[in-house]
Amino acid sequence: MKGLFVVFEGIDGAGTTTQARLLHEALVREGVPVHLTQEPSDGPVGTVIRQFLSGRLVVKGMSGPRAPGWPTMALLFAADRVDHLETEILPNLADGIAVLCDRYVFSSLVYQTETSGDFANLAWIENINKLAPRPDLTIVLDVSPTTAAKRRQGRREMEQIYDDLELQERLARRYRELPTRYPGERIEVVSGEPSPQDVHRTCLDLVRRMRGGR
Ligand code: TYD
Repeated sequence: MKGLFVVFEGIDGAGTTTQARLLHEALVREGVPVHLTQEPSDGPVGTVIRQFLSGRLVVKGMSGPRAPGWPTMALLFAADRVDHLETEILPNLADGIAVLCDRYVFSSLVYQTETSGDFANLAWIENINKLAPRPDLTIVLDVSPTTAAKRRQGRREMEQIYDDLELQERLARRYRELPTRYPGERIEVVSGEPSPQDVHRTCLDLVRRMRGGR
């Protein structure tokens, strides 16, 4: 991998999509070859996942149609990731193009572990994601679950299966723990509460420092 691989993470409404886009624009302006992407990806598995998330696609349940259970979702996210890596992420990095990804493996480690109801499932979720190389830098945007919920309401998007406030609180806590849980990785927790431009400046500084150190 030659290009720099940077990932944005956080709870729903933390601003990962906005910050990935602002960073992409800034790097393009600086003349850095860069590719912007996201997970779930635009690939076939990612497309199915999005339909499950929004409730447009359901599976049979004992008490009626429902979203697939957490193990199915975990496997789908992992399958989408491997496909995304093969078709989009790794070819760009190999060509020396930086890749910015809105969500990646830590989304699975945090969301799927938390929705499984048993933290011991983290080991299995790590295992099914073993083929995914870790990014050079992961930026976790930390916002309070109430701020994030207000932002989501403002967007008036269709409600998604992980929108519950209590779940989002648990996810936010797990995200904050990531640097201590994975000390070997480059994970930066940045407050996502300030204005998008202020958060962007912090993220751009982090990436500039990374690029300078390579
Ligand atoms: P999101 O970035 O919110 O997509 P959109 O902006 O299109 O609504 O991501 C979709 C949801 O999927 C979000 O709630 C996080 C969740 N997710 C996981 O649970 N596991 C994963 O591995 C990924 C990539 C996302």
